[in-house]
Amino acid sequence: MSKWLDNAVFYEIYPQSFKDSNADGIGDIQGIIQKLDYIQDLGCNAIWLNPCFVSPFADAGYDVADYFNVAPRYGTNDDLKELFDKLHERNMHVILDLVPGHTSIAHPWFKESMKAEKNEYTHRYIWTDSIWEGFEGVSSIAGCIRGISDRDGSCAVNFFSTQPALNYGFAKPEKSWQFAVDSEEAMAAREAIKEVMSFWLNLGCDGFRVDMAGSLVKNDIDSRETIKLWQNFRAFLDMEFPEAVLISEWGEPDKSLLGGFHMDFLLHFGPSHYLDLFRSEHPYFSKEGKGDISEFVHKYMENYKLTDGKGLICIPSGNHDMVRIAHKLDEEELKIAFAFLLTMPGVPFIYYGDEIGMKYVENLTSVEGGYGRTGSRSPMQWDNSLNAGFSTGRKEDLYIMLDPREERPNVKTQSKREDSLCNEVKRLICLRLANKPLCSRAPVEFLYAKENAYPFVYRRIGDKESILVVLNPSKEQADCRVMVDPACEAIYSTNGVASIDNGSITAPPCSVTIFKIS
Ligand code: NOJ
Repeated sequence: MSKWLDNAVFYEIYPQSFKDSNADGIGDIQGIIQKLDYIQDLGCNAIWLNPCFVSPFADAGYDVADYFNVAPRYGTNDDLKELFDKLHERNMHVILDLVPGHTSIAHPWFKESMKAEKNEYTHRYIWTDSIWEGFEGVSSIAGCIRGISDRDGSCAVNFFSTQPALNYGFAKPEKSWQFAVDSEEAMAAREAIKEVMSFWLNLGCDGFRVDMAGSLVKNDIDSRETIKLWQNFRAFLDMEFPEAVLISEWGEPDKSLLGGFHMDFLLHFGPSHYLDLFRSEHPYFSKEGKGDISEFVHKYMENYKLTDGKGLICIPSGNHDMVRIAHKLDEEELKIAFAFLLTMPGVPFIYYGDEIGMKYVENLTSVEGGYGRTGSRSPMQWDNSLNAGFSTGRKEDLYIMLDPREERPNVKTQSKREDSLCNEVKRLICLRLANKPLCSRAPVEFLYAKENAYPFVYRRIGDKESILVVLNPSKEQADCRVMVDPACEAIYSTNGVASIDNGSITAPPCSVTIFKIS
């Protein structure tokens, strides 16, 4: 398995909103290249780039119209290659966003598929035999497109109604228009996506984040056929590109890692209790102290035991689909949240701007299918200059409006303030990379994670030493009884140092203490 994942810390870049290098109001690849020093200085050593391919942008690029070309608004394939090369020169890595489940309606395959005459693409997508038949009751199909083709039939969609579903077959075909997973028709879609993977891996990317990875095979209730499909993709990569890394948007590591993914995300949907951490009504990491970590830990351990040694469970700070981590948490709370994110097993993913506490921007009109997600996709705040340093273009041309608040954080101000969130994140990444027990694969043992209780205590176990993490997000001092070696040395703390005495730990309000046990 790719060794670099042991110490990887990812930074997710939404290309539209990161840095505009040509003053057209939208971020681009040259803009990202300009900011590589910043990302590296923060301590991140890998990038996940959201889709940057030709698209009509009805879903911000998750509706691909050409898998093989960078959208002109972001630059060219040469720019992307330059980004790959510049990252590799720095010993950093990059994964692209692969959208294998659906294309845009503007994709040439779909245009062919809509034709009444039979052709190579007739079954590239999932169509019923009649315009009057839809997909009610079929799992992993969100609705249908009908009435826009000469062909008689409805076409399945995966998400928005402009995203027709590619045909990977049905777990148990029941109707004439449902193909088996190993049918020639379903195999053709599979092979086409392998070509896409090969193209970008040959150009130098290090792997892919895979969109909606768990929903490719339809009516696959126990995911068995989808897992097999991914095993086939993995076997192909192992032959051709053994170093290629895959991370899934699936949210069920017991399934995805079996399919050959190296990593799976915990998400704002699915069974993980991820929302309990930072985004529920009473987030655990809020100082009000009314949160509950126990169900998250319970589910985490269940997955952890099932997947131990097979791959990594990744807890992101956020992403382009959910409200920002700073929506409910202030700077002090965010520091504790990041201490958690950066001391857990798996590979941490920081969503651009979360490291400075960028806020969810309320009440924005939807941009490119963002709807409620638009507020988490606003331009990166670099400094106090025009458009917060994101773009030298006109304010009216910005892709999404900036956070209008005068007190909005920015990189420049935070980098000068010793105790800023950004500097704290930097210190925490440094600590993670300097201590083997904090690396991706070192085991974790939860020592105190009781229902509705604080603090939260766990140990990361290395070969020679281990690390004890004591987190108390609550504004009250918190105690617990845990047998740990009192001879441990505090190597990191904020807001005071927790004390360990005769089997009990006392953690000051809103504090983090990280101990080394030799
Ligand atoms: C998940 C992506 O993260 C999201 O942004 C997109 O809208 C859907 N998949 C559909 O591709």
